[in-house]
Amino acid sequence: MLSEIGSNFWLNPNQHLKEIPIGTPEQFNCFGNDYAWLSTGRSAIKLAIKNIEERNPGLKKVAVLPSFTCNTVFEPFLKAGYEVLYYPVEKDLTSTSDDILKTAVEHDASIVLFHRYFGFDTLIGNVDEMCGKLRELGKYSIEDCTQCLYSDIPRAQSDFTVGSIRKWAGTPDGGFAVCREGIFSGKPLQPDSILEKAKIKASFTKYRYLFEKKGDKSVMLSMYREAEDILDNQVELYSISDMSVRVQENLDKEELIRKRRDNFIILSESLISGNIQPLFSIENHQEVPLYFPILVKDRSTLQKYLGDNAIYAPIVWPKDVYQPMQCDGAENAYRNLLCIPIDQRYDADDMNRIVEVINQFYRK
Ligand SMILES: Cc1ncc(COP(=O)(O)O)c(C=O)c1O
Repeated sequence: MLSEIGSNFWLNPNQHLKEIPIGTPEQFNCFGNDYAWLSTGRSAIKLAIKNIEERNPGLKKVAVLPSFTCNTVFEPFLKAGYEVLYYPVEKDLTSTSDDILKTAVEHDASIVLFHRYFGFDTLIGNVDEMCGKLRELGKYSIEDCTQCLYSDIPRAQSDFTVGSIRKWAGTPDGGFAVCREGIFSGKPLQPDSILEKAKIKASFTKYRYLFEKKGDKSVMLSMYREAEDILDNQVELYSISDMSVRVQENLDKEELIRKRRDNFIILSESLISGNIQPLFSIENHQEVPLYFPILVKDRSTLQKYLGDNAIYAPIVWPKDVYQPMQCDGAENAYRNLLCIPIDQRYDADDMNRIVEVINQFYRK
């Protein structure tokens, strides 16, 4: 059996995890006057929206978001009754602070959420100045740093900072929100223990399937689907689960950073094909990549070929039916972007296997 690369993180049921109390979001360079740990990134956005509204009764429900983003980013706004408009993103996924500000002013938005991509600094211009100007205009800014959690990129002077920690390691859940001023009302205190149990069960089952050759793959996959369904259907706000705290606080962050960077560099140096356009290269010590994102014309056939070779390359993100036609940059990314896994579970041999399989695909 080929060893699998990518897809859901597993948890080792035999690993002893020390009980370490949860730290603050300062571990992600997110500083502010108050913070809350939550079960997801989307619930962190929801908490920020709720607090902005409580501080500003009668707020005009118009928000500006990135034109290339995850459905979990715009859904909290749609569910709260917002009209959502989008700032432009170029084909290399950069945006300028001037364009973000211009879009917010043009539509008289009350909330502007912005984010960078895949561990790289894709925001051009003076982002802090933009946040200041938005504040002067009575508008609120939220930086979503999910995709750059471990990159040493200074956080913006935004009114709120939010993030999801689930994409970087095997935490069953986990997100946070930080506010620059005041304190949060409505911080959740209880975790979603049903979700926590479902995620742990799926993650332990994956470990046993991969490393002890026990169990059935389709049963394991359905366990993950069930757990994600619980998460998708959360209505209340929940705090981060105990298991996520334990996994996060026991995480070897230096190894996470080193392996992701090393794996990324191997792909950068080896995937030299006219058919593939890598979106980013590591230029300095700041960048800790989430994936190795590439633009490819034949995305679905390549993704299927990789899958047939036990390499699971996700599409981050599929375009949601609720999103209207966007700028060329966003449309290009929604159509052609494929993410190659490079996370800390893998090493040089795994990266070389990815290169071999991709080269085989284009030789066919
Ligand atoms: C930028 C960004 N924000 C928020 C989220 C949502 O995180 P969660 O799935 O924990 O709600 C994601 C998920 O991919 C994301 O990429």
